[in-house]
Amino acid sequence: MSKVGIFGAGWVGLVTGACFAELGHQVVVRDVVPAKIEALRRGDVLFHEDGVPELLDAHAGRLTYTLDVADVADCEFLFVCVDTPPTYSGDADLSRVWTVIDELPDLDGRPVLVMKSTVPVGTGEKIRAGLDQRGLEHVGYVSNPEFLAEGTAVRDFMHPDRIAIGAFHADDGDAVARLYEQIDAPIVRSDVNSAEMIKLAANAFLMTRISFINEIANVCEATGADVVKVAEGVGLDHRLGPHFLRAGIGYGGSCFPKDSLALKQLASNSGYHFQLLSAVIEVNELQKRRVIGKLTRHLGSLRGKNVALLGLAFKAGTDDMREAPSIVLASRLLAEGAEVRAWDPVADGGKLPKGVEVVPTVADAVRGADAAVIVTEWEELRGLASPEVRATMANPLIIDGRNLLDPDETRRAGFAYEGVGRPVSPTDVLPQLPEAAPAQEA
Ligand SMILES: NC(=O)c1ccc[n+]([C@@H]2O[C@H](COP(=O)([O-])OP(=O)(O)OC[C@H]3O[C@@H](n4cnc5c(N)ncnc54)[C@H](O)[C@@H]3O)[C@@H](O)[C@H]2O)c1
Repeated sequence: MSKVGIFGAGWVGLVTGACFAELGHQVVVRDVVPAKIEALRRGDVLFHEDGVPELLDAHAGRLTYTLDVADVADCEFLFVCVDTPPTYSGDADLSRVWTVIDELPDLDGRPVLVMKSTVPVGTGEKIRAGLDQRGLEHVGYVSNPEFLAEGTAVRDFMHPDRIAIGAFHADDGDAVARLYEQIDAPIVRSDVNSAEMIKLAANAFLMTRISFINEIANVCEATGADVVKVAEGVGLDHRLGPHFLRAGIGYGGSCFPKDSLALKQLASNSGYHFQLLSAVIEVNELQKRRVIGKLTRHLGSLRGKNVALLGLAFKAGTDDMREAPSIVLASRLLAEGAEVRAWDPVADGGKLPKGVEVVPTVADAVRGADAAVIVTEWEELRGLASPEVRATMANPLIIDGRNLLDPDETRRAGFAYEGVGRPVSPTDVLPQLPEAAPAQEA
C-alpha cells in the first residue's frame, strides 16, 4: 500500500482521497481553505456527494487533513486536484496548479506528481520543464485525468469505464497503474499530451451529444415528433448507444462549460477554429432560454407573473450551482418582470441573482404560481402533478425542462404541460402566434 498526498479537498480531491483510502492506501489531503480542513477534521464534508462522508468515516484511520504542505513531503504520489476555472479569455486558469508546483516541499526518492485536474494539452510538458527548473528532475510526472460525474462520483471512481495514464517515463505510469490495481477497468496508457486530450475530447463529445439531442428536440417540437421516443430509437443503434441522449434545458456544472471553452480556446490559440464545438456551446446557451419562450406562449407577458423554479443544482444528486442553468433562467425571468420563487433540496439558492425568493419546500414554491418549471431532475419532483399542487397553483402549468413527468398523466391530472421536444397536446393552451405586421403601403 502507498502513501498518497492530495492537493485540493474539493469534489475530485476528496473523492480520490476517500476512494484511495477504501483501496487501503494512506492518504493526506491538503487544502488551502482552513474552514474545509477544520470541517473534515470534525468529520463534516462541506458539499453534497453521496457516499463520501461514509467512506471518510469508515477509513478515518487512513486519512489525515492538513493545511501544511510539508505534511505531504513523504508521499510517494502527489495528486493535483485543484480547480482550473476559466479566465476571461476562456482559457483554463492554471494559477492554482502552478501554486502547487511552487509550493512543493523537498521530496526524496522518486515521488510522482499526478495531474487529475483538467488541464489544456501541453500543460504536462510545461510542468515537467518547471519541475526540472526547480531542481526536481527526480520527481516523476503523470497525467491521470478524472472522469467522475458529481452525484455518482464514488461509483464512477471505483468502477470507471477506463483509467487514462499518460507518462513521460513508463516506470512512473506503471507506479500509478499499480495504485489502481484492485479496480477492474481498462487502462489506456499514452504520452502525456494524449492523456490530457482524452479528457477534453471525452467531455466535448458528451456535450456534443447533449446539444445534438437538444437540437433534435427543438425540431421535434416544430414537427410534432416526440424526442423521448426518437432518442430511444436512436440509442438502440449499437454504433450510437443510449447515453447522453436526454433532451433538456442544456448542460451546466463545473466542468462542461469551462472545459468546452478551454478546448475551443486551446484550438484557437493553436490556429484552429473548432467550428463544431463552437456550435455545441451556442446551442447550449440558446437551449437554456427556450423555457422563456414556452412560458410566454402560455402566459403572454411574464411581467408580474409568479414562476416557481423547481431544482436549482445543475443536475440531481449534487448541490453544485456552478454554471447551473437555473441561474440563467432566473436572470431571464427577472428581466422579463416575473416574480420568481425557487426551491432545491440541497443547493444553495443564495447563488441565484438578487430578487429571487428561495423557499424551503416545493409546496411553498408552487403556491399561487402561474407556472412551475422543472429545472433539475430531482426524484422529489416526480409526484409534482398532484391534485394538491393543482389546487394551490394560480394556473396549473408545468414546463418540464427535464422530461421528468409523463405528459399524459400530467395532463390527465389537470395540468397544461410542456416538456422538451414532446408534442404539445390540443388540450394545452395553444401557442399565441405573433400578430401579423400591418401590410406596407405601396
Ligand atoms: N467536479 C467534477 O465533477 C470534476 C470531474 C472531473 C474532473 N474535474 C476537474 O478536477 C479539478 C478539480 O475540480 P473540483 O470540482 O474538485 O474543484 P473544487 O473547486 O471542488 O476543489 C478544488 C479544491 O482545491 C483547493 N485548492 C486550491 N488551491 C490549492 C492549493 N494550492 N493546494 C491545495 N488545495 C488547493 C480549493 O480550495 C478547493 O477546495 C478541475 O480541474 C476540474 O475540472 C472535476
